[in-house]
Amino acid sequence: MAKREQHAVTIYTRYERFWHWSQAALIFLLAITGFGLHGTHDLLPFDKGVMLHTFAALGLILLWIFTTFWNFTTGNWRQFLPNTKGLFAVIRYYAWGILFGEDHPHKKTLRRKQNALQGLAYLTFMVLIGPALWFTGIIYLFYDLWNEIPGAADGLFWVAFLHTAAAFLMVTFVIIHIYMTTTGKTPLHYIKTMISGVERVELTEVERAYLAEEHPERLKE
Ligand code: HEM
Repeated sequence: MAKREQHAVTIYTRYERFWHWSQAALIFLLAITGFGLHGTHDLLPFDKGVMLHTFAALGLILLWIFTTFWNFTTGNWRQFLPNTKGLFAVIRYYAWGILFGEDHPHKKTLRRKQNALQGLAYLTFMVLIGPALWFTGIIYLFYDLWNEIPGAADGLFWVAFLHTAAAFLMVTFVIIHIYMTTTGKTPLHYIKTMISGVERVELTEVERAYLAEEHPERLKE
């Protein structure tokens, strides 16, 4: 096995951080306005809620299109490939080891920023929860175009039902995700990493030499 040393490296590029935080803000806004429309609270008048929800949704769909393009052109999509190696060790750690101060079994590397469980969670988010929301959301948005076909009212009921169910899954994902961010070295450690982009990771000599040559600005020490 190649010799590895710890270095502080920019692991999240500027675009990744922009994508992450703008997506977080839009999902937050969509959840607040969406659950207002659903009748869970009445912080906003209905028409303003619909307008904000629609604009935020269009913003999020645009962001997803750009980011999918970015993920494929940069090769970053490989980070999300399912990988069961070490999955059990990570599950055991969050269920048990974390309570007794054990070290995290996954060591972040440049090629694998995420542990196996995290990879699976993000994949579910990107291929199931996200698309379920925008797919049902767009059909909902264009109800005026199909409201005359027979059974349209029943159809709308199911579209709204599936949209709301996916929204609950999204909120569940966000709550677990935020809890997970607090489990680093300090409760704010991972949040700071997603703001600065810099994290200490193990690099092989080859990776270090590659970064020094091609991306010296990413090597912080
Ligand atoms: C990303 C694409 C999305 C689109 C295109 C979209 C579109 C829509 C539309 C058109 C409505 C109906 C508004 C009306 O009554 O006139 C709606 C309702 C709703 N949306 Fe979204 N939305 C999206 C994302 C989200 C997200 C991310 C969440 C939550 C995390 C969410 C939660 C809700 C909820 C809870 C409702 C109320 C459903 C009901 O009770 O009928 N939406 N959405």
